[in-house]
Amino acid sequence: MLEQLETISQDALASLKDVQDEESLQRWRVAHLGRSSPLMQVFDRMGSLPKEERPVVGRRANEVKQGLEVAYTQQSEALKELALGRLLQTERLDVTLPGRALSHGRLHIATQTLRQIYQIFAEMGFQVFRSREVETDEFNFQLLNFPPNHPAREMQDSFYIQTGSDRGDDPVLLRTHTSPGQIHAMRQYAAMDPDNPPPVRIILPGMCFRYEQVTHRHEMQFNQVEGLAVGEHITMGDLKGTLSDFARRMFGQGVRSRFRASHFPFTEPSAEMDIECFVCGGVGCQVCKKSGWLEILGCGMVHPVVLSNGGYDPLRYSGFAFGMGPERIAMLRYRIEDIRSFWANDLRFLEQF
Ligand code: PHE
Repeated sequence: MLEQLETISQDALASLKDVQDEESLQRWRVAHLGRSSPLMQVFDRMGSLPKEERPVVGRRANEVKQGLEVAYTQQSEALKELALGRLLQTERLDVTLPGRALSHGRLHIATQTLRQIYQIFAEMGFQVFRSREVETDEFNFQLLNFPPNHPAREMQDSFYIQTGSDRGDDPVLLRTHTSPGQIHAMRQYAAMDPDNPPPVRIILPGMCFRYEQVTHRHEMQFNQVEGLAVGEHITMGDLKGTLSDFARRMFGQGVRSRFRASHFPFTEPSAEMDIECFVCGGVGCQVCKKSGWLEILGCGMVHPVVLSNGGYDPLRYSGFAFGMGPERIAMLRYRIEDIRSFWANDLRFLEQF
């Protein structure tokens, strides 16, 4: 039996040399130190030995068992070392590598253009006045001198969101332009001192909505920037001076502008302002459709009816107003051909600005 113990020990130690990973190490342990291993069977059979042999065999069996246990622990440690070494090799961190670049957000091209416009008018003394996007027919049209059924309404197909007999002639709609803000603003200013309403110098930016057939030139949502100046002795000269100066600051000092007669129910007289085509310098090209001029805004002297709807006495006060489309301005400036790009959220477009 002593010889058998020697063989058991040698076999076990020999096969331990082949063990290279944790899994086979566990298998080795079961095979050589587990319940049904040859070594344990020796312990089981001990009872059948003659009394005088038992202590000798018992001692040797215990030595062999301890030897195997020590060998097991050593191999286990060695394997752990090896695994750690491999991990350190494969997951080595190269601190000299350049870091991963964080992607930067940026302002939308419409926002950038709006902010340039705010900046220019701020320098001229105009404050930003925010007004609601959901309006009543009264503010969007009636108080601006568009009576129900007025043909000028046809130019602004509208999104009505509440109609029906309960609201009669005053349905709720998404504003088709920023002009209703003129009335809100004038009334708010006039309320400060109804007998002597203070002068108004504001721009009113924001989203407008029209029930348009969407094409590369028409969107159903777009920004406008309205401007309103009301005070005593304001003339058409102030309008022309302010807007020509705006055009020079926005498009370049040398740019020429011109005013053409037009019509809006809420201004009288009304005009449209063109700037000299900055693509061809006025010679005529694709962008200006060979005319040499680009239309950039509508404007006029505030209609007396609109002044009094806002709480300003038209015999004492006068004013001018204008409205422009920042997306349109950005399209001209950067030669963007499709207005739908603004709200399509395609990063390939947006990242260019
Ligand atoms: N509200 C007009 C439009 O949407 C633009 C405009 C504003 C014209 C102010 C004159 C004065 O077309």
